[in-house]
Amino acid sequence: MSGLVVASNRGPYTLAEGADGQVVVRPAGGGLAPSLASALSAGEKEALWVASAMSPIERRAAGEGRVETGEGKLGLHLVSIEEEAYRASYDVVANATLWFCFHGLFDAARRPLFDRRWWEAWEHFRRYNAAFTDEIAEAADDGAVVLVNDYHLPLVGRMLAEKRPDLRTVHFTHTPFAEPVELSVLPGAVRRELIEGMAGFGACGFHTRRWEEAFSRSSVATAGRVGPTFSCGLGADTERLAEVASSPECARAAAALDELVGDRTLIMRSDRVELSKNLLRGFHAFSALLEERPELRGRVCFLARAYASREGLAEYLAYRAEAEHLVAVLNERWAPLCGGEEPIIFQVDDDFPATVAAFRRYDVLLVNPVRDGMNLVAKEGPALNERHGLLVLSEGAGAHEEMAGAAISIQPFDVAETAAGLAAALDMEEGERRERSAGLAELAAACPPAEWLESLLAQARRPKG
Ligand code: G6P
Repeated sequence: MSGLVVASNRGPYTLAEGADGQVVVRPAGGGLAPSLASALSAGEKEALWVASAMSPIERRAAGEGRVETGEGKLGLHLVSIEEEAYRASYDVVANATLWFCFHGLFDAARRPLFDRRWWEAWEHFRRYNAAFTDEIAEAADDGAVVLVNDYHLPLVGRMLAEKRPDLRTVHFTHTPFAEPVELSVLPGAVRRELIEGMAGFGACGFHTRRWEEAFSRSSVATAGRVGPTFSCGLGADTERLAEVASSPECARAAAALDELVGDRTLIMRSDRVELSKNLLRGFHAFSALLEERPELRGRVCFLARAYASREGLAEYLAYRAEAEHLVAVLNERWAPLCGGEEPIIFQVDDDFPATVAAFRRYDVLLVNPVRDGMNLVAKEGPALNERHGLLVLSEGAGAHEEMAGAAISIQPFDVAETAAGLAAALDMEEGERRERSAGLAELAAACPPAEWLESLLAQARRPKG
């Protein structure tokens, strides 16, 4: 039994088979989960993380109860859902519907489309939320604190309130939330179940006021009321970043990057291959910069680092192909005018030390999502950069609410403005550059994961209304 239970679809560890056939537990790649896991494992109380089993070996381990992580006070419990049901829940409902809705990504001429297949997936989504509810209900001590993350698990609030009214529950959404008009593309019954599911939590949190207010308005529009909400922006995990930055992998990646970039000025970006990240308009903006500023040709390059994501969805595969095609077309056009060198370097791999090496070295960082809950790249880059680099930042990123004062703001659909933002960053005189980059680094380090976790726990402990 645990006094603190954290739940998310993707957990902070992955299980694999070691050389001797034993199960080995490894920390998962990047993101918030590993940082939170290290804060929890260092805590005073026994804590449990409940996450989905995502591979055959994890499904086997799910049947065996608590998995010891080997790290302090934190244990792991995997929830196993039959694979087809899991895919329906994750691909069709969580990713192709809720993610698209919250990020304003629907192409209304075609999507969304609620047919029989979709409603079956919704049934699976309910069962998936119920399975998490059962695990949490079983593992949580009397009056325990339960922190549930993201749009995969909104229905747990109400289900858990019915089963275990003694628990102190908080839900945190790491994405944006939809305004009422955007939420209204979901069928009425789905909208109500979603909002009422979330109303079952003791409080609902968001990274910024903007998404918190969108949720409040959508709750009132759907259910006529809203429960307790809060916003709490997450900062970069500077300690973990510093560790990666001093690793031999990062040093090797830095040497390779030096070779690749040479004496050109470096504009970079780093994202998942993800529709909301707005990769295509970023490439168009860089091309517009070369168009308008001939003297920059051959003297500046654009490194786009991205790692593949959600390739179970046709939209993501098509988006990646479109991005690769666009880069090829633009490089073919510009390389002859850039001394024969391709000005866009598009690297699709999952190599965090290489990303960290690029963060340290960039002159300009472009973060131009259509919409984003927070966007940690906008903080991790400035926290690590060593060249007084500047940040060109979308108004649609949650991070914009905190960092607008020191960043160069752009509207993410406006390619001309994005190109002008890049030009302004390249042209900025040294004094202002230094001042802004110092300001960015300071803003990026505010509220690191351990402090952020404390704020969530404080929300959970506040008296029930
Ligand atoms: C991003 C979002 C998180 C979300 C995660 C899911 O990182 O910021 O809110 O939980 O994607 O990613 P996945 O790869 O598990 O679908």
